[in-house]
Amino acid sequence: MAALRIAVANQKGGTGKTTLAVNLAAGLHRRGTTVLLDADPQGSAANWARVGGADGDLPPVRGLVAAEVGSAIGQAADSCRYVLVDCPPHLQSDTLRRVMEWVDLVLIPVQPSPLDLWASVDMAATVVGTRVRNPRLRAFMVLNQLDSRNALSGAMHQALAEFDVPALTNGLMRRAAFRSAALEGRSVYGLGSRGASAVRDLEAIIKEITGL
Ligand SMILES: Nc1ncnc2c1ncn2[C@@H]1O[C@H](COP(=O)(O)OP(=O)(O)O)[C@@H](O)[C@H]1O
Ligand SMILES: [Mg+2]
Repeated sequence: MAALRIAVANQKGGTGKTTLAVNLAAGLHRRGTTVLLDADPQGSAANWARVGGADGDLPPVRGLVAAEVGSAIGQAADSCRYVLVDCPPHLQSDTLRRVMEWVDLVLIPVQPSPLDLWASVDMAATVVGTRVRNPRLRAFMVLNQLDSRNALSGAMHQALAEFDVPALTNGLMRRAAFRSAALEGRSVYGLGSRGASAVRDLEAIIKEITGL
């Protein structure tokens, strides 16, 4: 079966890219062979995995440099069922554009405020531009740090409706477990009962994007 290649990207920093990439990778890793490629030169995902050590909670994490984006994603896709890419927080370098040419799906975490959403408008435009070279690229915004599933403001709904990239129905709530997981170098799956609610957020997202 062909691998599913997923990039987590937003040119804005601090929106939850690494949090989503690492925890999504951990959830997919429990379904099939998975690798997480860290394309951010800051190496946050790689550092995260290093803190926790190798006990099988997280899939292997490998660095990804701009010059090797195509070959590295291709190679990973040959040997894995799921390939995740945590992207750098800028559009200046070529890395993000190249990654988007080599994946099936891009997830764009955004905080649930219209201002944060509009700060991601260049990201949405880049997705649309990339479809010239990768026509099958699917893309979704993922609302992160939600306070309550029912509390999206009218302004936020309106802003979402004006975007070329739709939002997933499911998002991530703001939860201490996501911070604890990062501090402990684990995923929320590896936190046991402390991570149970966060795992439910992830499982709903995985179901929505894969049907599994
Ligand atoms: N759903 C969430 N609940 C609580 N804290 C979160 C959540 N998502 C992200 N964070 C925290 O927000 C900060 C930025 O997240 P991070 O994943 O590093 O963003 P990015 O990779 O986009 O820069 C981190 O301290 C992270 O622990
Ligand atoms: Mg990051």
